[in-house]
Amino acid sequence: MLLALETSCDETSAAVIHDGRVLSSVVSSQIRLHSEYGGVVPELAAREHLRNLIPVTAAALSEAHITADQLDAIAATRGPGLPHALMTGFKSAQALAFALRKPFLGIHHHEAHLYSPWVSGKPLAADFSAFEPNISLIVSGGHTMLVHVEGELKHRVLGSTVDDAAGECFDKTGKLIGLPYPAGPEIDRLAEKGNAKAFDFPRPMINDPADDFSFSGLKTSVRYFVRDHPALLDTPKDVSDLCASVQSAIVDVLVKKTVKAARRLGLRCVTASGGVTCNRALRKELTAACQRNGLKLRLAEKDLCTDNAAMVGILAERKLRQNQASDSLIGEIRPNWSLEMTNDE
Ligand code: KG4
Ligand code: ZN
Repeated sequence: MLLALETSCDETSAAVIHDGRVLSSVVSSQIRLHSEYGGVVPELAAREHLRNLIPVTAAALSEAHITADQLDAIAATRGPGLPHALMTGFKSAQALAFALRKPFLGIHHHEAHLYSPWVSGKPLAADFSAFEPNISLIVSGGHTMLVHVEGELKHRVLGSTVDDAAGECFDKTGKLIGLPYPAGPEIDRLAEKGNAKAFDFPRPMINDPADDFSFSGLKTSVRYFVRDHPALLDTPKDVSDLCASVQSAIVDVLVKKTVKAARRLGLRCVTASGGVTCNRALRKELTAACQRNGLKLRLAEKDLCTDNAAMVGILAERKLRQNQASDSLIGEIRPNWSLEMTNDE
């Protein structure tokens, strides 16, 4: 029985995992707190994590019908993320491991996203027996990257964003359109009734041979478009068309580059995870593109796309099963930890 904590950004989460099964997963989102400021305020996030950690952990233990003394191991996100936010969950988990005299694991947040598409069903459970090498797209508010997952727990970053992340692009362009933070889910909702071909926005780096992404040019293009056509924002139909057109530009780039990388490397499987993987157009277009190209696709379940401790716990248990040593109880957080470094540890 393993308890995992996740506090890298604005979700306080705790989960209990046993034998690849998610026995409980509790997520307390701070979205409402931060939306007033148009983005995550690190100091407020850390304070809110401190307030939430004990009730969220208690709820996860109670939903799993266990008490703390039944735990065999404790894990927490070690990085990357907001330093003070990370510290709250990481240090609490270390303290609990110390008190219970159980092993402790510090987990890389993106590595947890990377394996989250292998967790599915009701109740959620990991199925690593189906694992095969894949190209993995991680798309969140902070990161956009393409990773070659060569084997279980072995991966190589092929490319990442050189400026804004895809989620950041959704959030920033949404703000220009007048939508509340985080604008990604709202653009998704409004785009449903819109015409994606109404307005033509750039698809940066879509044909670039590198696996990197860039979204700040698209954001700038939306900024000028809105400045030059302010009246559009007063008409719901135009706003929907605008959302659909922006969404389609982002999705086109993500889908085309992911499929291209899979084909170039001769892989037969594609996975996707992270908050933006909730986006319905991305799910639909990636599904269609993978079908056209004879690729198997595993999309993270919607509950596991946005930040959660279940994915952290699943990976931690996997690492323990594969005899990876537990971490020191005096280890520190790693706010800028790169995914590549996890291969060597
Ligand atoms: O993975 P996540 O919860 O946190 C980070 O690690 O950043 O991702 C949050 C991001 C936000 O930018 C949010 O706007 C975006 O995911 N997002 C979406 C959707 N749901 C969440 N973007 C587009 N469409 C959605 N349905
Ligand atoms: Zn994340």
